[in-house]
Amino acid sequence: MSATPVLIDCDPGHDDAIALVMAHRSPDIDLLGVTTVCGNATLDRTTTNARRIMEFIGATDTPIAEGCREPLARPLVLGTADGPSGLDGTPDLPEASMALDERHAVDFIADTLASASEPITLVPTGPLTNIALFLLKYPHLKDRIGRIVLMGGAFYRRSEYITPTEFNIFCDPEAANIVVNSGVDVTMVGLDVTMHVLVEEPQFAELGKIDTPLGKVVLDWLAFYEKLHRGIMGVGGALHDPLALAVVIDPSLIETRPAHIAIDLTGSHMFGATVADFWNERGEGTNVTIATSVDSDRFFDLLYGLLRDERGV
Ligand code: BDR
Ligand code: CA
Repeated sequence: MSATPVLIDCDPGHDDAIALVMAHRSPDIDLLGVTTVCGNATLDRTTTNARRIMEFIGATDTPIAEGCREPLARPLVLGTADGPSGLDGTPDLPEASMALDERHAVDFIADTLASASEPITLVPTGPLTNIALFLLKYPHLKDRIGRIVLMGGAFYRRSEYITPTEFNIFCDPEAANIVVNSGVDVTMVGLDVTMHVLVEEPQFAELGKIDTPLGKVVLDWLAFYEKLHRGIMGVGGALHDPLALAVVIDPSLIETRPAHIAIDLTGSHMFGATVADFWNERGEGTNVTIATSVDSDRFFDLLYGLLRDERGV
């Protein structure tokens, strides 16, 4: 099978960083570009981080376009899981020197879709601001999207984040609302599954065997990330964004259910919560597919394999 053409929209972020690494190294992904958004850190920082990561892994031919500085309708609330820089604990990365694409992320996405010979998969791993703005500005290009596989939402489980919400949705709920009701095929890889792909002792032991510059940097990222996560939630680092990307490589990693979801845009403590109707109780049909379980061992085998592969660093 030929590689799936993919655009990643991200806010790196340690886990976004690992998703970028996996996409670049997977023979099943044709990474057409990376767009950045605010979220885990300010836009300047997430863009700088994306450039540093892509340079380090030798992906300088992949364009990076900068996107939105703030959510559509609310002040930016920064994430807390990655340190102020968005990528704390990684002294070994080069300073950013690769040029940014001159287009805004939204226009870059539009041009890429318009010129593609086949439908493109979008993988948003941050707040959905850029994707919503793209859908508002270029509705006629919606049909060029094959599917959207996004990291976001919490359905069965309570979130780790303030209320029963997940950060990417909480940060820009209006944008998320536009995306899930766009009519595009949307798969939500949320906390129900990503909180089962945890880096703990056994995973650190396996990763520690990967004796390459990349292996060492990934270990540094995860050591920092795990410590912060454990402090907040009492469990190891959850590989949220890498799982969303992995699902494009191997859809059989997760089980899914179709549902109709509503996003609370008006509540106070429940604001940003994703409320799912799995049984069509409200008679609204379905608007998304939700990941409900994951084969975590197979996810980690995929990750180790891609990191061990002797490509680049
Ligand atoms: C999501 O929020 C960020 O902290 C992570 O990068 C991930 O995209 C998890 O809730
Ligand atoms: Ca992210």
